[in-house]
Amino acid sequence: MTQIRLTPLVASLPATVPFVGPETQERLRGRPFRARLGANENGFGPSPRAIAAMAAAAGEAWMYGDPENHDLKVALAHAHGCGVENVVVGEGIDGLLGTLCRMVLKPGDAVVTSEGAYPTFNFHVAGFGGVLHKAPYRNDAEDPEALLALAQQVRPKLLYIANPDNPMASHHPGAVIAAMLDHLPEGTLMVLDEAYVELAPEGTAAPVAADDPRVIRMRTFSKAHGLAGARVGYALGAAPLIAAFDKIRNHFGISRISQAGTLAALSDTTWQVYMRRLVAASRDRIAAIAADNGLSALPSATNFVAVDCGGDGAFARAVLEELTAADIFVRKPAVAPMDRCIRISCGPEAEMAALAKALPGALDRARERSR
Ligand SMILES: Cc1ncc(COP(=O)(O)O)c(C=O)c1O
Repeated sequence: MTQIRLTPLVASLPATVPFVGPETQERLRGRPFRARLGANENGFGPSPRAIAAMAAAAGEAWMYGDPENHDLKVALAHAHGCGVENVVVGEGIDGLLGTLCRMVLKPGDAVVTSEGAYPTFNFHVAGFGGVLHKAPYRNDAEDPEALLALAQQVRPKLLYIANPDNPMASHHPGAVIAAMLDHLPEGTLMVLDEAYVELAPEGTAAPVAADDPRVIRMRTFSKAHGLAGARVGYALGAAPLIAAFDKIRNHFGISRISQAGTLAALSDTTWQVYMRRLVAASRDRIAAIAADNGLSALPSATNFVAVDCGGDGAFARAVLEELTAADIFVRKPAVAPMDRCIRISCGPEAEMAALAKALPGALDRARERSR
């Protein structure tokens, strides 16, 4: 029989899934969730214009999408006031992070991130043999000073920071992120993940030129644009770095339907303003539901809210499990002290009402369990 001859690196990796999907959980539970509030998706959905464009493109799905994503890249370059040579489109930020890691990391290369930060980045770093060095959060936020101090020590190829951050929804002013660039060690590329930046307060987007060679900046259609299932993200960076993606990226990775939908979403600026309002109101609604139950919501610059359950990580885990048992899908941070929280995505009122109904009982049962 033929033996599977994995590379030594892949053979050495533990079986890891960065996030177990809600569908997997539903299959295991044998029933659907009533509220899908765990994956930082945007339950308000995409712009009607995007939906119409995707419907119109559905009949053309027999054709591959444009491998250059030309029209979308031109529109993105226009929106960001940069050249098309500064934009690469990929299968969500997740896909772009994987390609970036493959581009720059060889086994043993150092990479810096925060302990408890976005795990899919770590997953890709491990997959290409990079060695992660982690700085702790400070005050429930990624800590620019600690990240830079660690970078000075280990001289990483990549330094990752998300602004705003997942899982805590905290943010730094963009100027703080821009100032970090002046203190990066020679040869370190900052990976600035701005997945949520369109939903953050004014001034959160780092005031950095798209072609600054010290940083690659990642954006997505999954959050503010409500198109997580379309799997489209993009990166802005210096032309030579962006050109290198073409050497190894999955050229036909973005479907025709997704290209049409994201192009239409980008043009619908009215919907974008409306979405910011919907999300802001939903953040308030989650905070009010938390307060009604004696819990406190942390300030959020994203489309999700970290709710402090008022105990330790084990207690928050019990709350999460009880919510899951009550058909409410939420997630939680994994690392202390942030793990005292559960993380709840913004969404339409029907889902908020289901959460409001389920939370008191879930808390009671979690308290019962911790007695
Ligand atoms: C910080 C951060 N980056 C990236 C992503 C994934 O983005 P995409 O859907 O574009 O892959 C997420 C999704 O939750 C996220 O929280």
